[in-house]
Amino acid sequence: MGDNLKNTYLGAPARVLEVENLTSIEKLYTLRFLDNDINNKFNFIPGQFVMFNVPGIGEFPVSICSSPTRTGYLQLCIRRAGRVTKYVHENIVEGSIVYIRGPYGNGFPLEEMKNSPIVLVAGGLGMAPLRSILLYHLDTQHFSDLYLFYGVRNYELMLFKREIRTLLRGYYNVHVYLSFEDIDRGARELIRLYRKSIVRGMVTDALEVLRGSVPFEESYAVMCGPPVMYKFVVKKLLDLKVRPDRIYMTLERRMKCGIGKCGHCIVGTSTSIKYVCLDGPVFTYWDVLSTKGLIE
Ligand SMILES: Cc1cc2nc3c(=O)[nH]c(=O)nc-3n(C[C@H](O)[C@H](O)[C@H](O)COP(=O)(O)OP(=O)(O)OC[C@H]3O[C@@H](n4cnc5c(N)ncnc54)[C@H](O)[C@@H]3O)c2cc1C
Ligand code: FES
Repeated sequence: MGDNLKNTYLGAPARVLEVENLTSIEKLYTLRFLDNDINNKFNFIPGQFVMFNVPGIGEFPVSICSSPTRTGYLQLCIRRAGRVTKYVHENIVEGSIVYIRGPYGNGFPLEEMKNSPIVLVAGGLGMAPLRSILLYHLDTQHFSDLYLFYGVRNYELMLFKREIRTLLRGYYNVHVYLSFEDIDRGARELIRLYRKSIVRGMVTDALEVLRGSVPFEESYAVMCGPPVMYKFVVKKLLDLKVRPDRIYMTLERRMKCGIGKCGHCIVGTSTSIKYVCLDGPVFTYWDVLSTKGLIE
């Protein structure tokens, strides 16, 4: 698992193979390490993240959105949020060299979830780490069924449009449901084509509409999205009878070192402290109940 990448603050050089515009604010970067040995050994669990470093500019944590089953390259979906990510959007192009260290964090407990149904609940950019599980399942049939609920403001802001549209057409045991707050042209077209899979409103509305059609009581649930989404989605999942010990969420906090040294990502109080970079970013509902401040 490339320990050399964990123990250096610079990381290993990687070449950008491709940059794809996903929306007006998010791009998908496909990278390959210059060192073939690292390419062959680099392994990760969906839900883990890497630190993306541009020397002289800065670095930031970013979830891996490709699947560990697709080896030899890494994909990262990067939103233009502030200083460093703006630089990346404007200056890092095909052929650029950046530095990657990791993988960090715990990732999703895939073995525990094996052969059960899984419900993925994504909001906005939260689709990025969940895509890693989705692709993993497409390659390995790890779950008995996969239900993806993806809420976005409008079609323009939807990530991975091509892949989602392919899955909407129907794919064996993968079931995709979308919710749009605003119905733009793209959303209208999808509603026309896939009326039963699309809801106007929030992702919790889509969960409610599918109340009788998804085996929530037997499922694991994994959610990722903007902080405001969590408490509403947890409440809805509990109401739909998902077992509390089967609810997982991936959380983002400001990070600096990514390896438990700087304390930037600490949450909780003296009775229960968590380092989001080490103990997370994937947490259970029980962690949330016992750790003050994990979700707002
Ligand atoms: C575990 C983890 C996984 C992440 N995965 C992804 C990903 O897959 N794709 C992606 O685009 N981004 C991801 N992020 C967020 C990303 O790290 C931040 O957007 C990035 O650090 C912003 O850096 P910047 O210098 O461009 O912005 P800054 O100039 O530092 O900040 C710009 C704005 O972004 C906000 N911001 C900065 N960091 C965070 C954060 N961690 N959470 C919420 N708001 C933040 C600031 O408050 C400010 O409003 C992840 C963060 C974590 C901790
Ligand atoms: S980011 Fe430094 S301790 Fe977590």
